[in-house]
Amino acid sequence: MEEPATHEFDFALINEYFVELERQGPGSPEATIRALSFIGNLSNESKIVDLGCGTGGQTMVLAQNTKGTITALDLFPGSIDKLNVNAGKLGLRNRVKGIVGSMDNLPFQNEEFDLIWSEGAIAQTGFEKSLNYWKGFLKKGGFLAVTYESWFTDERPAEIEKWWVDAVPEIATVGHNVSVMQKAGYVPVAAFTLPENCWIDTYFIPQKTRQEEFLKKYEGNKIVEDFIAFMRQEAELYSKYKQYYGYVFYIGKKYK
Ligand SMILES: C[S@@+](CC[C@H](N)C(=O)[O-])C[C@H]1O[C@@H](n2cnc3c(N)ncnc32)[C@H](O)[C@@H]1O
Repeated sequence: MEEPATHEFDFALINEYFVELERQGPGSPEATIRALSFIGNLSNESKIVDLGCGTGGQTMVLAQNTKGTITALDLFPGSIDKLNVNAGKLGLRNRVKGIVGSMDNLPFQNEEFDLIWSEGAIAQTGFEKSLNYWKGFLKKGGFLAVTYESWFTDERPAEIEKWWVDAVPEIATVGHNVSVMQKAGYVPVAAFTLPENCWIDTYFIPQKTRQEEFLKKYEGNKIVEDFIAFMRQEAELYSKYKQYYGYVFYIGKKYK
């Protein structure tokens, strides 16, 4: 039998697993701050949106390193509840607001934002399609910064090719993605690869305890066992094939 891809697991199950983790995808405070360093012109008046924010690991880093207000949007209400509680704990409630919504049906005005942020989420609604759609919500001269799964080489072993094409059918090389961004109406400002610690220290290692907890809580549940096996395989494949792929931060500026 074919192994299931992540999107075939239940949305509620995936979110129950991830909601207790600080990050739901690869990334780190250092990478978020590095991406921010390419973005100019933010002020107290700036409006920022973080799309597919999850529980808001990167949202809080953004808030602590920018001025202005941040709206953070995610489809999963449990993550948004957690984000709003965390914003309160960090004294950021007046600048950070989490809302439930879908990245492909945004409840915002045209040209409302100075900065659109999205870490690890754009593949869910499609890289090219979302870059085009989101641009409408960005002011002229505004910035967009997204992380996205990308190939580092033109060729790779069949095992890893199949895994990623199943998960992200649109996955492409860094060069291709930069040209897609340019075609969508953004001047490419920077593209950099997330270092390994963004996968290992903040994504794979924190999952280990969660996996044990889940297997205990759902002992004998085949769907949960398959899901955990899938998550463990993601980590094994990364250690085997990390020279071929990773997340890349793409930063662009809307020019018209
Ligand atoms: C890999 S996680 C990344 C979360 C967070 N940005 C991070 O880097 O830790 C992807 C997030 O996208 C959210 N998501 C998936 N489809 C979505 C959609 N259509 N609209 C909004 N959020 C969505 C998921 O609920 C999840 O929180």
